[in-house]
Amino acid sequence: MNSAVPIDLTPRLERVFDVAERQTRATIARAPDFFPMYTEQGRWTRRGELWTDWCGGFFDGIMWLLYERTGDAWLRDRAEHYARLLAPRRFDREVHDLGFIFLNSYAPWFRHTGDAAFRHAMIDAGRTLALRFQPRGRYLCSFIGRDSLFIDIMMNVPIIYYAARETGDAALREVADTHCRTTERVLVRANGGTAHEGLFDTATGEFLRQSTHQGWSADSDWSRGLAWSLYGFTTVYGYTSDPADLAVARRNAEHWLTRCGGDPVPPWDFDAPAGPLRIKDSSAGAIAASGLLELARTLEKLDAEGAARYRAAAFKLLAALCGDDYLADPATGWEGVLRHGVYHYHKGLGVDESVMWGDYFLLEAVAKALGLR
Ligand code: GLY
Repeated sequence: MNSAVPIDLTPRLERVFDVAERQTRATIARAPDFFPMYTEQGRWTRRGELWTDWCGGFFDGIMWLLYERTGDAWLRDRAEHYARLLAPRRFDREVHDLGFIFLNSYAPWFRHTGDAAFRHAMIDAGRTLALRFQPRGRYLCSFIGRDSLFIDIMMNVPIIYYAARETGDAALREVADTHCRTTERVLVRANGGTAHEGLFDTATGEFLRQSTHQGWSADSDWSRGLAWSLYGFTTVYGYTSDPADLAVARRNAEHWLTRCGGDPVPPWDFDAPAGPLRIKDSSAGAIAASGLLELARTLEKLDAEGAARYRAAAFKLLAALCGDDYLADPATGWEGVLRHGVYHYHKGLGVDESVMWGDYFLLEAVAKALGLR
């Protein structure tokens, strides 16, 4: 148990594991071998547009977290089975999400077995992701095209760092470092906010402008993008020990806290206008909670006061997300764990619904808070 967790929060955190276990068992029984992404009126859709196929590792990651909590052999068996289904994705050139897919599935599998095959799968995935590098603009391009850089890739670049560390491949490491510096330069704003996308001239490599797909506007703060950056740069610092990475994560965290103000759960975009458009994205909150806990852990010996502040902010977020307003009640027929998430507002995908990464990062944050990870 993490002694810093407020005493009255602990039962709520434990309830999240109970809800997640019940929902996961039911989802597996209902649709074996299916990787859910977002719900429609509370039910995981099997016919909705994916936009891009990036979520397999989250469902499998939930199974690993549940197994680690319970020691249940059936959950372990399912976690291994679903991870096996993901294996071919390590060579997938269509997505920029190989960190999301493999670090939440094969990393725990490797940790629990020490089997070199799983370490190799992650190395393959890291090498595949590195093939997205654009030497002219000096970034890993998004699935949209060679001219596009996404803030989300900061959560995936750690698998390149992993592959570089495990193989000693300096060129891989250089790709990852270069991507981070370009992202900092073109997507992280002076106030610590972030743009979703940067567009480049592929012929010259010149940066053209900031843009967005899932945010309100090119110059707005899409809350999930900010959370990806905060968590991503924190994770990268774990590999690089480069103060520049930690500094970006802290600027993101400060901006997050400023923009949230008194309400810990953010709107889907901090600049969405007041009124019916300004709905919550609980998944951004879950990512930020887990990222803030990671940042607090990272800062423990460097800045104990800062660490305590970020940890307190994470607990405040978790207190809200684990309460009745956000945590699903399985008895109602809702199939996700965390309600009020948003996938793609403009496309109308998963708006005010459960989204698989929201469920995953909530459970991950809870596991960290309970001292399980
Ligand atoms: N594709 C990543 C996201 O929706 O945040």
